[in-house]
Amino acid sequence: MERNLICLGIEGTAEKLGAGIVSSSGKILANVVKYHSLVGGIHPREAAQHHAENMKATLEQALQNASIGLGDIDIVAFSQGPGLGPCLRVAAVSARTISLAKKIPIIGVNHCIAHIEIGRLLTKAKDPLTLYVSGGNTQVTAYTEGRYRVFGETLDIAIGNCIDQFAREMKLGSPGGAIVEKLARSGSYFELPYVVKGMDLSFSGLLTAAIEAAKKQKIEDVCYSLQETAFSMLVEVTERALAHAEKKEVMLAGGVAVNRRLQEMIALMAREHNAKFLVPPKNVLGDNGAMIAWLGILMYDSGVRHKIEDTMVKQRFRTDEVEVKWR
Ligand code: ATP
Ligand code: FE2
Repeated sequence: MERNLICLGIEGTAEKLGAGIVSSSGKILANVVKYHSLVGGIHPREAAQHHAENMKATLEQALQNASIGLGDIDIVAFSQGPGLGPCLRVAAVSARTISLAKKIPIIGVNHCIAHIEIGRLLTKAKDPLTLYVSGGNTQVTAYTEGRYRVFGETLDIAIGNCIDQFAREMKLGSPGGAIVEKLARSGSYFELPYVVKGMDLSFSGLLTAAIEAAKKQKIEDVCYSLQETAFSMLVEVTERALAHAEKKEVMLAGGVAVNRRLQEMIALMAREHNAKFLVPPKNVLGDNGAMIAWLGILMYDSGVRHKIEDTMVKQRFRTDEVEVKWR
C-alpha cells in the first residue's frame, strides 16, 4: 500500500441510502445514512426515487463530515448487489458518474461481504463465522479456501422481513424489530413452527402462524415466542456451521444483530464452544456506506480493477461468487 487512499462508498441496495468515506488505514471519516420511510413495505421504484432525490445531499453531507472535497477521493466503491434492481442502479450510476468525471477507479462490491469486512475491521475479529441477519438477508458464512462460503441461509424470507411483516400486520408501527423486541420482554412462550431444513431456514410458516396466533394470544406472548423460535433456529444453524467450519470466533452483522436477545443467545452458544463472540458497533450493523468504502479499499489494494463495463448491477450477487484476494 503506497499512501493513505481515500474511498467513497455508496450503498443503496434497499430502502437505505448511504455514503461513507474511509481511508486505507481503516479510519471512518464519514458515514451518512438516509432512510426511505417504510410505509407498507419496500416499493423498489419509490425507494430508488428516494435515493436519486437524496443522492446529492447525502454525498455532500459525507464530504462535509469528512472535511474534504470530491477532488480528494481516490476511489469510488458502490454496492453492486444483491438487492433491488432500481435501487442498485441509482447507486451504480452515481458511482460511474463520479468515476468518469473525476477519472478515479471504480469498484463494485458485494454488499454481504461488506457487512463482514467492516465487522472484522471494527471488532478486530480475525477469521469469524458470521451470522448476517437483516431485512433482506439471513446467511451464515465463513472464509475457506479463498471465498466466503455460505453454510446456511434462508429458503424464503429473511428474519428481519419476517419480524417487520409481523409488526406491520399487527399495526405495531415502525421500526418493527425494535418494537417487537420491547414487547417480547414481558411475554411468555408458546410453541410456533420451527423450520430448519439441513443447514437452511424458513421463516414464512412462522410468520403466518404468528399472525394467526395473535388473534387469540397476548401480543407480548406472540412477540416473545416469535423471537425465541426464530432466534433458536438461527442459533442451531450457526452452531452447526461453527463446528463444521472449525472457527474460533462468531460475529454478528446486519440490522437484526442489534437485538439484545439474539446477541445473548448467540453469545451463550459461542461460549459453550469456546469461541469468541463479537458484535460490531450499532452504526455499522445496518446498511451503510462506510462498509462499502472499506471493502472497496480492500479490493483495490489487493489488485482488483473494474472497468465501467464490469459495473452492471447484480440483483442476485452471491457471497461465494467473489474471489477474496485480500485475505
Ligand atoms: P439488507 O439490505 O442487508 O437486507 P436491510 O435493508 O434490511 O438490509 P438493515 O439496516 O441491515 O437493512 O436491517 C434492517 C432490519 O433490522 C429490519 O428488518 C429491522 O426490523 C431489523 N431490526 C432493527 N432493529 C431490530 C431489533 N431491535 N430487533 C430485531 N430486528 C431489528
Ligand atoms: Fe445489508
